[in-house]
Amino acid sequence: MTDLLAATRASYDAVAESYAEFIAGKLEGLPMMRAVLGAFAELVNGPAAEIGCGPGNITSYLASLGMDVHGIDLSPRMVEIARTAYPTLRFEVGSMTSLELGDCSLGGLVAWYSIHHLPPVELPGVLAGFHRILSPGGRLLIGSHAGVEEHRKPTEGYGGIPVSYESFIQPPERIVAAVQAAGFTVTAELIEPGDKPGRKYLSLFAQKD
Ligand SMILES: C[S@@+](CC[C@H](N)C(=O)[O-])C[C@H]1O[C@@H](n2cnc3c(N)ncnc32)[C@H](O)[C@@H]1O
Repeated sequence: MTDLLAATRASYDAVAESYAEFIAGKLEGLPMMRAVLGAFAELVNGPAAEIGCGPGNITSYLASLGMDVHGIDLSPRMVEIARTAYPTLRFEVGSMTSLELGDCSLGGLVAWYSIHHLPPVELPGVLAGFHRILSPGGRLLIGSHAGVEEHRKPTEGYGGIPVSYESFIQPPERIVAAVQAAGFTVTAELIEPGDKPGRKYLSLFAQKD
């Protein structure tokens, strides 16, 4: 495990409770996000996984739409919280940089606001892993911060808790190009204004041919 991955895991362990409180109920006020997740649920055939699932609220929402979905997260504390909150769903500790899922084993993969923690140089390898795991026709959904390139090193997160994770903001077209370079066909892109100047929220649908 790289030092940055270890720092990301420790930081999300530290903020897990306050993040879970921060995110609770948020989807109810976000109709565009529910629409994107709803479209993904309709498009996917077969089992699916959310990679970087945090406290499990997105995984749980997709399950409520009828998906056969489980969650994977780098942070053991996040996984504990998700298992407690949603005891009928499966959550496992794991990193998107070294997923142990079998080749062509899933019909859907979603990474929802987790890939921005990857240094850009690691994104192609992670996307190649997603492509390996999806079966032909399988669907990928990425939700991500995007925008003017920026390398953020916040020192506090979610209620003033010290953190040492990092965020790598990339232009949306660079994320799209990386998904295509990994062998996917991009089928839809939604770009919404972000929470600060130069920022966007990107929802990207892709398919393995
Ligand atoms: C901002 S939270 C998003 C959680 C959830 N997807 C949501 O939308 O509420 C980012 C999550 O990504 C996880 N994460 C960061 N790097 C990861 C990696 N390499 N592999 C798996 N999960 C990772 C963190 O532990 C954290 O739970």
